[in-house]
Amino acid sequence: MSSAPRQPFHQFQGTKGYIASAPLIDAVNCAIALERPLLIKGEPGTGKTLLARHVAEGLGMPMESWHIKSTSKAADGLYVYDTIQRLNDARFGDGDVKDVRRYIKHGPLGRVFAAQERHVLLIDEVDKADVEFPNDLLRELDEMRFTVLETGDEIVAAKRPVVIITSNNEKELPDAFLRRCVFYFIEFPDVPLMKQIVDVHHPNLDATLLDQVLIKFYWLRNQSELRKKPSTSELIDWIAALLRSGITEKQVEAHLPFIGTLLKTEQDTDALARYSEGGGALPRKWSDLGPQFRQ
Ligand SMILES: Nc1ncnc2c1ncn2[C@@H]1O[C@H](COP(=O)(O)OP(=O)(O)OP(=O)(O)O)[C@@H](O)[C@H]1O
Ligand SMILES: [Mg+2]
Repeated sequence: MSSAPRQPFHQFQGTKGYIASAPLIDAVNCAIALERPLLIKGEPGTGKTLLARHVAEGLGMPMESWHIKSTSKAADGLYVYDTIQRLNDARFGDGDVKDVRRYIKHGPLGRVFAAQERHVLLIDEVDKADVEFPNDLLRELDEMRFTVLETGDEIVAAKRPVVIITSNNEKELPDAFLRRCVFYFIEFPDVPLMKQIVDVHHPNLDATLLDQVLIKFYWLRNQSELRKKPSTSELIDWIAALLRSGITEKQVEAHLPFIGTLLKTEQDTDALARYSEGGGALPRKWSDLGPQFRQ
């Protein structure tokens, strides 16, 4: 850890475009203060990826993203040696092929280490890669330096980036990796928090329409037969569709229009259709959802 002069703890205070709960803001500030990566988990659509963009905005830092795929290798985040380009240059006589440095291309991690300005680095969906991936990053994330083997150059981060790592829980992450992170699980938003999130995307939404929409949304999420529960991002899309179509609060009271924005598998749409055909009623009031939803 660096012995740089102490920064104030509460560096991140949220942004207008992202609704962060107080414990999430604390977790971000804790990770910044400890210079540890912040590992964010939570079900899909709970704002894990978006958080990084807003931490960058809130701190006034540029951001670099590394979207992890099943084929991603930790070393590629540092740099790749472009042998194909070098071969082509040798074949067609373009440029100085002896200068190996020309063919070293930094990856997202390499770029933020080499940058003069402090960055936010998002390592998105770390659990997509194979199990070795997080372990392979340990040393570089700890020491914030690496050596380019082909040239012997050492790249040392001038400013330690603020690292945000997201995971959807597809694979367990190794203990040694977890030990180095500050962890935060984004709980699915409760109704008051969800109202604030909706307001960011659809300001000045009619309050009775919003209530009807949320009653239906939380009811759907409570149906145990559903394979895939709709998430925040789907709710935002649903409201956008409702607004575009000019539908009234009364119509949402009796139906679930544009269900394809909320339910994404035929098993789920079939389950809902069976429920309606069997005479199942849609909820109209918060109290129809049970005591935990009393507003
Ligand atoms: N706290 C929030 N404040 C504002 N908007 C939010 C918030 N949480 C979710 N959203 C909305 O939900 C959308 C999805 O967020 P995001 O892509 O960050 O989710 P995610 O958790 O990364 O999902 P996935 O696991 O599928 O990648 C955002 O584009 C935004 O519209
Ligand atoms: Mg995401």
